Amino acid sequence: MAQTTSYEPPFSRSADANKDHILNQLTTCLKAGDLVLEIASGTGQHIVHFSKNLPDIHWQSSDVDLVNYGLPEVVANNQCANLLAPLSLDIASWPELNARFDAVYSANCIHIIGSELLAPYVAGAAGVLNPGGLMLLYGPYKYGGEFTTQSNADFDQYLRSSNQGGGIKDFETLDELAKQNGLALENDVDMPANNQFLIWRKTS
Ligand SMILES: C[S@@+](CC[C@H](N)C(=O)[O-])C[C@H]1O[C@@H](n2cnc3c(N)ncnc32)[C@H](O)[C@@H]1O
Repeated sequence: MAQTTSYEPPFSRSADANKDHILNQLTTCLKAGDLVLEIASGTGQHIVHFSKNLPDIHWQSSDVDLVNYGLPEVVANNQCANLLAPLSLDIASWPELNARFDAVYSANCIHIIGSELLAPYVAGAAGVLNPGGLMLLYGPYKYGGEFTTQSNADFDQYLRSSNQGGGIKDFETLDELAKQNGLALENDVDMPANNQFLIWRKTS
């Protein structure tokens, strides 16, 4: 008997839960015609959702690991004209990119990577932004060395015990790196589930 195969996209419960909260923020700071690079696209759930809901914006997905979640298949199966095939992009050593972007966005990546990757992250993002472009980060951060909630402190403990260098990072470290790379903080929005949506603009 002939076998039929149906495509089952990868699924992350947390990405599903926060995709509309993030979409609402993106709607406030992006404009029609923008080209947005997503770093660490993971399952691709966010970028697929954004490309469907913001069809006048062009979306470039990327991840260090295109195999784990099958990101190329996710993008191909969605057939969104404004969603580009993923780039293989390691924050530790950014490839030469021909395009320049109006925004570089990432969610839930900064607390996964080691502290030594913060400087390459910010320098890489600033380097591929157009003048006036935005660096957008969603996730949990510490302020003045303090967690915003006990649950974030617990999450940090979990990351440190189970990961390779992961842990919740200090907002001030990121903001200082941003300043060094010509990015000025424009907004810091409190988000559900103890997260922040951070917006920096390239000013020089
Ligand atoms: C917690 S997942 C977040 C995925 C997605 N952004 C979300 O919010 O659901 C972290 C992602 O970071 C990616 N990642 C880890 N180290 C990376 C690196 N050095 N460069 C680029 N991506 C990296 C992983 O492959 C993974 O897809």
